Amino acid sequence: MTDLASADFFSDPALAQDPYAYFDALREQNPVFREPHQGVVAVTGYQEVMAAFKDHATFSAVNAIGGPFPPLPFTPEGDDISEQIEAHRHLFPIHEHMVVMDPPAHEKARSLLSKLLTPRRLKENEDFMWKLVDQQIDQFIDNGRCEFLSEYAKPFATSAIIDLLGVPEEDRPEFLAALGAERPDGNRVGALDGEAVGLDPLQYLDDRFLGYLAARRADPHDDVLSGMAAALYPDGSTPELIELVKPATFLFAAGQETVTKLLSAAVQVLGDNPEYQDRLRENPDGVPTFIEEALRMHSPTKVDFRLVRKTTELGGVHLPAGTVVMLCLGAANRDPRKFDDPHEFRPDRKNVREHIAFGRGIHTCAGAPLARVEGQITVRRLLDRMSEIRIDEDFHGPAGARNYAYEPTFLLRGLTQLHIEFDRAL
Ligand code: HEM
Repeated sequence: MTDLASADFFSDPALAQDPYAYFDALREQNPVFREPHQGVVAVTGYQEVMAAFKDHATFSAVNAIGGPFPPLPFTPEGDDISEQIEAHRHLFPIHEHMVVMDPPAHEKARSLLSKLLTPRRLKENEDFMWKLVDQQIDQFIDNGRCEFLSEYAKPFATSAIIDLLGVPEEDRPEFLAALGAERPDGNRVGALDGEAVGLDPLQYLDDRFLGYLAARRADPHDDVLSGMAAALYPDGSTPELIELVKPATFLFAAGQETVTKLLSAAVQVLGDNPEYQDRLRENPDGVPTFIEEALRMHSPTKVDFRLVRKTTELGGVHLPAGTVVMLCLGAANRDPRKFDDPHEFRPDRKNVREHIAFGRGIHTCAGAPLARVEGQITVRRLLDRMSEIRIDEDFHGPAGARNYAYEPTFLLRGLTQLHIEFDRAL
C-alpha cells in the first residue's frame, strides 16, 4: 500500500469519499503533521484540536473557511503577524461574517446574534418544527419511498431558519424558492463550502433583510424582526443595519448544508441498523444520545482552519507565525485516545457529548441547540410515522455492500443522496 499520509487531501477524490483511513494515517505519523501538498499542518488529535480552538490569541480564525485557498495575501514576517492580518483582513473570503472574525470584532458581532437566539425564540422555533416535520413527511409518506435530502432534509433545514428569523408567512414560499429548497436538486446557499451559487442567494438574503429591518426600525411591530431591528451593542450603541443583517443571513450559510448532512447521516444509520429503530421507538429518551453519536461519527464539518498569528508549539511541533493549520474535527472525533473503538457507532456511548463536531472556544457553533433539536425531532417523528425504514437497494446496493456517494468537498462531509423505503405506521 502507498503511504496514505502523503495523499493530497485537497484534491484526491477517494479521500473525499472516505477520509477516515487518511486521518488515522496522519495521526499515526503525528497528531500535528505537515501535509506535503499545500504545506498545511493537519491536526488530527482530539486534545490538540481542542487546544488550538481555545487559544484564539495564538490561532486566528481569519482563514477558518478557506484554509490554504486562496493563498495568503501577504508574506508572513517575524514571529507575530497580527498587524499583517489586520491590514489584509478585507482580502480574506467572507471577511464580513463572524466565523472568520477575531476579538474584539467577533465579540461584537456575536453579541447581536445572542439577542436573536434567546431561549424563548428557540422554544417558539422548536414548536414550529414539530408542525413542520409532519407537513414535510405528509408530502411523501404515501409513496413508500423518498430521496431523503431533497424531499425532507433540505427543505426542513431551510424552513427552520426562515422561521427562526421571523420571515413573514406570506414571504416564505419566495424564500424557499430563492434558496432552492422547494425543488429537488435546487441551488443552495453554499458560502461555507465555497461553492458557486446560482442566483446569489446570499445577496438576495442581504437585500431582503435590509428591507425588513429598515422598515421595522421606522415602524416597529410586535414581531421577531422588530426585536432584531432594535438590538443594541453591549455598550448601548446602535448597530448599522448591515451589521444586523450579516449575522442573520449567515445563519443560512451555516445551518442548511450542515443540518442536511446530520439528518441524512442519522437516517442512513437507522436504515443500516434496523435494530436501532425498535430500540429508539421503545426508548425515545435515547434519541438525543443517538444524535450525538451521529455527530461524532459523521461530523458534518470535516475540517476547519486557523492561521498561526504568533509563533508557537502545538503537540510538541514548532509552528511559525503564518502557518495554516487544519483542525480535523472528523479525525478528532475518532481519536482512539479519546473515544474507545472510535470507528464503531455506539448509540449509547458514555462520553459522546464531549465530541467537537460544533467546534469549541469563542466560535463554538451558535446554532448547536437548534441543530440538535432538528435532529431529535426528525428521528422521533420518522420513527413514529414509519414502521420500518429501509435503505433502497436499487440505489445503494444490498446490506454489506452499500454504495453511498459523498459530496466531493474538503470542508464538509455528507451524502449526495439517500434513497429510503418505508412502511407507514398504523
Ligand atoms: C449539525 C449542524 C451543524 C454543525 C456540524 C455546525 C458546525 C459548526 C462549527 C464547527 C462551527 C465553528 C467554526 C469555527 O470555529 O471556525 C460553527 C460555527 C457557527 N455555526 Fe454551526 N453548525 C451546525 C449548524 C448550525 C446552525 C443550524 C446554525 C444556525 C442556524 C449555525 C450557526 C453557526 C454560526 C453563526 C457560527 C459562527 C459562530 C462564531 O463564529 O462565533 N450552525 N458551526
